[in-house]
Amino acid sequence: MTKIIAMAGKGGVGKTTISALLINYLLAKGQTPILAVDADANANLNELLGLTVGLTIGQVRKELKGDMPPNITRDQYMEMKVHQALVEAKGFDLLTMGQPDGPGCYCAANQHLAMTMDHLAGNYRYILVDNEAGMEHLSRMNLRTIDYFFVISDPSARGILTAKRIAELTGPLRIEVKKQCLVVNRVPEPASPELMARINEAVSSADLPLGGLLPASPELVDQELAGRSYLKLDASVPVVAKAFAIFDQFLN
Ligand SMILES: Nc1ncnc2c1ncn2[C@@H]1O[C@H](COP(=O)(O)OP(=O)(O)O)[C@@H](O)[C@H]1O
Ligand SMILES: [Mg+2]
Repeated sequence: MTKIIAMAGKGGVGKTTISALLINYLLAKGQTPILAVDADANANLNELLGLTVGLTIGQVRKELKGDMPPNITRDQYMEMKVHQALVEAKGFDLLTMGQPDGPGCYCAANQHLAMTMDHLAGNYRYILVDNEAGMEHLSRMNLRTIDYFFVISDPSARGILTAKRIAELTGPLRIEVKKQCLVVNRVPEPASPELMARINEAVSSADLPLGGLLPASPELVDQELAGRSYLKLDASVPVVAKAFAIFDQFLN
């Protein structure tokens, strides 16, 4: 059975960073094949994975509005184009959603997409969705269940409150979440008692157990500046070791 993992949290908290570290982890554990979905309009997961994106789903959706080649249905066309949009790497594929529908959305395209995703999903052991702040893409892709939901926060009181609200958002979207946790990223070490009190308060008042804390990491900054893939980061790098420990705990 394919397991769906999703990341959520406001902009800049580390969703894409943690997504890349999670792919690194799943590859290291042989938990493949993985489908990584970049569901942020401002796509950049590919950069952290050392990949170049060609076609995005947003572009495919646009094409579906126009004339079809003869002898092909829109569903078949969507399916063909989604396969073209998949960037294949060792152990995983990457699908980039790109720009959302603007005004004048061709909504049937989303139905075609949902159908294609249903076909595609079964090919993978894990599907990891790196979301933007909202989670509309999940419903567009017809992902109705999240097996593992990571809510990421920065180490601020308001950030943690936002994380708690995001965790509560999945209900109205009619997405079933099986397991969720809070990860607080870029935490100064040692974490202050005030921050820990705030985290504990959020954790106990929402059904959002603490997955763990991640430190601010100079290695991540260097890796990004050098344009090197996060998949090349070794498990001996402190932030990677801490992230792997969180994944070990939460995914098992
Ligand atoms: N633990 C960390 N240590 C150092 N830099 C980090 C850490 N987590 C994220 N960053 C940096 O913060 C910025 C935003 O992170 P990103 O993962 O893109 O956030 P999001 O996807 O939630 O918008 C990036 O430049 C990233 O390299
Ligand atoms: Mg991101």
